[in-house]
Amino acid sequence: MLVKELQSRNLPDLLTFLNGDKVLDKEDWALRRKEIQNLLTQEEYGEFYEPPFNLAYKTLDTDDNYCAGKVTLSKILLTVELRGGTYSFPIYSAIPKSKNPCPAFLHINFFEPIPNKYMPVEEICDNGFSLFSFCYKDVTSDEDDFSDGLAGIMYQGSKRTPTSPGKISIWAWAAMRVMDYLQTLDSIDKKNVAVVGHSRLGKTALVTGAVDDRFAFTISNNSGCSGAAISRDKQGEDIRVIATIRPYWFCPNYQKYIDREHSMPLDQHFLLAAIAPRNVYVASALEDIWADPNSEYLSCVAASPAYVLLGEIGFVYPDRYPEVGEKMHDGSIGYHLRAGTHYFSRYDWQMFIDYINKHKNI
Ligand code: GCU
Repeated sequence: MLVKELQSRNLPDLLTFLNGDKVLDKEDWALRRKEIQNLLTQEEYGEFYEPPFNLAYKTLDTDDNYCAGKVTLSKILLTVELRGGTYSFPIYSAIPKSKNPCPAFLHINFFEPIPNKYMPVEEICDNGFSLFSFCYKDVTSDEDDFSDGLAGIMYQGSKRTPTSPGKISIWAWAAMRVMDYLQTLDSIDKKNVAVVGHSRLGKTALVTGAVDDRFAFTISNNSGCSGAAISRDKQGEDIRVIATIRPYWFCPNYQKYIDREHSMPLDQHFLLAAIAPRNVYVASALEDIWADPNSEYLSCVAASPAYVLLGEIGFVYPDRYPEVGEKMHDGSIGYHLRAGTHYFSRYDWQMFIDYINKHKNI
């Protein structure tokens, strides 16, 4: 049934190069992945700024007695030095007092201090995970303005070109800097770090995982249009809406695809596949019709062949759309459909914890 659904969407083939050649093995895939990453950055999100030439971390505040003494909560100022100048933003960490290094969630967050409504810190730490979080607006504003924060330093007042970074690429770049910081910590199990985000920040998490191989898990919650969901014939939000209301999330080239989804040389399953062979997780909510759960699910199905080509399990799913409350946790691509509306709930966190525990790198 889903094969038919996919055929009707007329997706560009993941395993065919732009020149028409077929992708036959792992070596071909390495080249095809580059091609896909280029399509994603040049046609949709914008190119990534070069890595900083220096990073510094300063602990501003520590509570060693957090959660009845089980957890150390810290606020850290992260400073990045770029060609155009220096920029600092705060990050928060919550690290369980454990003898062994803990797997970690890096949450690209809507809010600054933790815990907050999208981040049940004690519960996550009790499950043996450490947490890192930063507020996306502390990096650069969520506005069509490239003069403030990190964007101001990257752009240096220059005009945007067709492929220059949108805000999603800049937030993703910042998440990579938090990952740089994690690499310096003995308390973290670096083989098992997940980047996670909700909604626009779920889109950002996927872009981060697609370009940074250090993340073993990439998790998008209700990311919808220009996130996990297939764009061709998507319900709810489409490229016309998102590229008109939030043009600055993307590179200017993305405007070309307003009302022309079917002419795109890519679709969102390319974004999931660029993460292969590392695990990716897509979470949907039944009433989040703006994001379109069915199109999010189809994307998992369509990305699966890249995993299979690489010798991974791929997506394990029944040949139908998911039912509410159902989770698909057996394969390299994880999925669940939660009841309710657009939200990042405790249930979603529980699903992510369950999935990571199942697929953790030893
Ligand atoms: C809007 C937007 C979505 C986005 C969401 C959010 O609804 O249309 O694409 O995911 O905001 O980030 O909350």
